[in-house]
Amino acid sequence: MKSFLVDQDGYYGEFGGAYVPEILHKCVEELKNRYLEVLESEEFKREFDQLLRDYVGRPSPLYLARRLSEKYGCKMYLKREDLNHTGAHKINNTIGQILLARRMGKKRIIAETGAGQHGVATATVCALMDMECIVYMGKTDVERQHINVEKMKMLGATVIPVTSGNMTLKDATNEAIRDWCCHPADTYYIIGSTVGPHPYPDMVARLQSVISEEIKKQLLEKEGRDYPDYLIACVGGGSNAAGTIYHYINDERVGIILAEAGGKGIETGMTAATIQLGKMGIIHGARTYVIQNEDGQIEEPYSISAGLDYPGIGPIHANLAAQRRATVLAVNDDEAIDAAYELTQLEGIIPALESAHAIGALKKLKFKPEDVVVLTVSGRGDKDIETYLSFNEK
Ligand SMILES: Cc1ncc(COP(=O)(O)O)c(C=O)c1O
Repeated sequence: MKSFLVDQDGYYGEFGGAYVPEILHKCVEELKNRYLEVLESEEFKREFDQLLRDYVGRPSPLYLARRLSEKYGCKMYLKREDLNHTGAHKINNTIGQILLARRMGKKRIIAETGAGQHGVATATVCALMDMECIVYMGKTDVERQHINVEKMKMLGATVIPVTSGNMTLKDATNEAIRDWCCHPADTYYIIGSTVGPHPYPDMVARLQSVISEEIKKQLLEKEGRDYPDYLIACVGGGSNAAGTIYHYINDERVGIILAEAGGKGIETGMTAATIQLGKMGIIHGARTYVIQNEDGQIEEPYSISAGLDYPGIGPIHANLAAQRRATVLAVNDDEAIDAAYELTQLEGIIPALESAHAIGALKKLKFKPEDVVVLTVSGRGDKDIETYLSFNEK
């Protein structure tokens, strides 16, 4: 049977692989040789599960959103990753990777961040494990997500503003990779999404797969069957989406809908809609769709949402789109803002701007009344309040 999970060589169909500079080859090989053995060991699983339960607060609820269901004519459940410690799904991955880093004897942790959620989640686990933490963040994002910057500093991390490119997630990732090249022996790079060279996309997807593992159990309890008709999630690099779909990826009964950032519109040039506009290329060590010009130069992406403002896409999702296993919709800034207000006013839940893109996809879809839909609310909106208010004043 065809599988949409990673193959032995680190590819999803034509997408993925590990395209890294010579100097990182050893680090990536070391990681590739260790990650499965560690992640599958009983001792790791025990520690990971215990921290997810007692520290993060898992399982996150699966909430039947009655007013949203009524509005969209289906049975709509929200997977509440916004209720996790630190406010988003990112902490699931950072807990797993810090446990791995410790087992590999690494002491210095680096990370990139866009919205700051992955930076905060990394700074949090570094405080917990008493490790040095350096976070690279584009200067544009430092300004638009400054509450998260203050949190990272309070947690003891060093935040380095990056001033290259348009000073967002791509540029922060470039800088983190540059740092890793300079300190390959003692440094562990905690990547925050299903991007980067193999084994990162697979490792991050596995660590986030707790989301769909829980959805299975929770749906069985609530609906008497363990699968929905549709899963919906936003995609930046793709980690909350990968976690949401992981245990359903080869189950064709389950439709997969991914919402990427349309920005000001996919025809405006101010967009981060990689699946709609990207061509095959290499970005941050993986072969995937990349928004690029005719000479293969990466174009500067744009989205109001710092976490979706990325010109690439995780290889797992590029393959799902290429194989037509997933439907990918571009949701524009204004549609996401409207959706955030809608969720807030219908259900009393203020979502992160990233998650609001998943809600924004609902207007573009048609459901049957009996359809069971699970939409992942990847994070809470505390960090985005100023953006929401300023948009409303316009
Ligand atoms: C709340 C939230 N959701 C989604 C994303 C997008 O990342 P990913 O596609 O890896 O889930 C981010 C990234 O910062 C985020 O903070």
